[in-house]
Amino acid sequence: MSLMSGERTFRLGVLGSGKGSNFVAIADACSAGTVPAEVAVVLSDVENALILERARERGLSARFIPPGKFRTKLDETAEAAYIAALREARVDLVVLAGFMRILKGEFLRTFAQRVVNIHPALLPSFPGLEAWKQALDYGVKVTGVTVHFVDQGIDTGPILAQQTVPVLAGDTPATLHARIQEAERALYPAAIAALARGDVKVQGRQTVWETPSSKLQAPNTR
Ligand code: GRF
Repeated sequence: MSLMSGERTFRLGVLGSGKGSNFVAIADACSAGTVPAEVAVVLSDVENALILERARERGLSARFIPPGKFRTKLDETAEAAYIAALREARVDLVVLAGFMRILKGEFLRTFAQRVVNIHPALLPSFPGLEAWKQALDYGVKVTGVTVHFVDQGIDTGPILAQQTVPVLAGDTPATLHARIQEAERALYPAAIAALARGDVKVQGRQTVWETPSSKLQAPNTR
């Protein structure tokens, strides 16, 4: 699969519920030209989420869209509103950056193989919530970060890139999470840059990076 959009700038739709540190890394890499893409729209299910403020500070289109009546997913009306907003913004790739809702059926059919997520562990270890805490509680010595396509499962889609992060003696959930987030801020822009350039092909569960000379190298991907 090539996600290149011809001459037109590759357009990102970013969805987030929280503070937006991944969004900031991605938006700033777009502005700096290290990611050949632009943020077309930022959407949040949380009205006062910092990610919206950070987007507006950068002059980007940012919208709160109410998630509807469920706690962990979008209801039908909300799902349709998210799809419409992303279509209206003509996005090539949907980037989940701390979006705390599970996306399902119609959304994933609409943006088939065009939704990516970042997970704070080395999948398939520690899927779900607070993965850094799961890793610490389990006692692993190495954890990390995974960028993956989103499919119908929870944190189960084809893996695009992974970066290891050591667990150090004396780590608390907070210190480990901070180290993981630092790795996220490098890995996510690198993976998005590769998708924007059309450097990645998906073959079943495998993703193949085709241009080893990409400017931004994603560690541990080839
Ligand atoms: C990230 O740490 C990511 O692993 C998870 O959600 C968090 C979002 O953080 N999917 P931020 O809003 O990007 O700061």
